[in-house]
Amino acid sequence: MNILSFPNMVFSQNLLLIITASVAALVGVAASCSKGECRLHDECSSNQDCEAGLYCLACPLGFQGTRCVRSTITDQFKLLNNSLPFNKYAFLATHNAYAIDGYPSHTRVPRITFTNQEDNVMDQLNNGARALMLDTYDFRGDVWLCHSFKGQCHDYTAFGPAIDTLREIEAFLSTHPSEIVTIILEDYVQAPNGLTKVFTDAGLMKYWFPVTNMPKNGQDWPLVNDMVQNNQRLLVFTSIQSKEASEGIAYQWNFMVENQYGNVGMKAGSCTNRKESSSLNDKSRSLVLVNYFRCIPMKKLSCEDNSRNLIKMLHTCSGAAANRWANFVAVDYYKRSEGGGSFQAVDLLNGKLLCGCDDIHACVESQEEYNNNKGTKVELLQQDGSYITRSSDKLIGW
Ligand SMILES: *[C@@H]1O[C@H](CO)[C@@H](O)[C@H](O)[C@H]1NC(C)=O
Repeated sequence: MNILSFPNMVFSQNLLLIITASVAALVGVAASCSKGECRLHDECSSNQDCEAGLYCLACPLGFQGTRCVRSTITDQFKLLNNSLPFNKYAFLATHNAYAIDGYPSHTRVPRITFTNQEDNVMDQLNNGARALMLDTYDFRGDVWLCHSFKGQCHDYTAFGPAIDTLREIEAFLSTHPSEIVTIILEDYVQAPNGLTKVFTDAGLMKYWFPVTNMPKNGQDWPLVNDMVQNNQRLLVFTSIQSKEASEGIAYQWNFMVENQYGNVGMKAGSCTNRKESSSLNDKSRSLVLVNYFRCIPMKKLSCEDNSRNLIKMLHTCSGAAANRWANFVAVDYYKRSEGGGSFQAVDLLNGKLLCGCDDIHACVESQEEYNNNKGTKVELLQQDGSYITRSSDKLIGW
């Protein structure tokens, strides 16, 4: 029977409200904000409560109950512009982007291995991840993504054929014509041209950024808007050196430095290169990547890992990398945080890289101020009471 069909409809509705409020009080949910209007750090009971760009998360180590935390990146190209070299920007990288909770077994054998992410690659890209770390193996006569050991994929460590994930990336690039995606491969594929074949079959070669255009001696990368104009929007790095000559796939360590990954890489105050990488302060590599994830992923701890400690490590690594701020920051469970998380970390990096600020949003203010005041003369009061006239252009950065 429909409660609203009663003549005392208003009474029933009120009763319903009272019941709802009492239940909310019992379970301790403060109704301080309503559907879709809860802001960062507000208490929430479902994702729908939170404003766009946020979702509702429990982080027992960071805060009580469930609160709205960030789920999406700040788009640095939209907020500012894409007219600078690629290495002047920072991007979020998802570690083991393919090792996703609930990814169905493609081998009929239950998987016995860790996961590092919770949502699929398309969601990762839509939420703003722009670098994906993938482990590629020869398996079943094809290239597979696998979380394995000794370079061998097994039925119980396999996630799926690489082409499935590469097709998702192709779909994203084709529907987002101004975006650039970087793929970083821990590569165990020995089959001749195995990678070339799977990238070709996935329709990704049309976006390929040629290795011959990558700077080899620490120079700046091409401008992002030129990369977009030329449709060279896919950067692929392999860990196998010979493939640079044989297949034209960039050998990662010719172009990038990285800190040690895993628990050693999370030791506060220390940032050293992983063994495959040259020293972090080697400026002949124009790109810097900071890993910040545990050897064994711990979902419950990751909201804390991805918050203040991550920001601290980015500062430590900047010092170790000859005062260069990272271009990539790689994490597990990228959406888990105490509030800003990996998204805030990328905002910090872009702020540092683009205008020397702690947050990219501060760059907008200085750019607007600049545009509004460009060329106008301002009078500045000196300590002795006299005035001097300066062009306002000179004031930016004060
Ligand atoms: C693009 O943004 C950067 C960083 O804020 C700024 O320095 C540069 O002047 C901007 N370029 C254009 C063409 O607006």
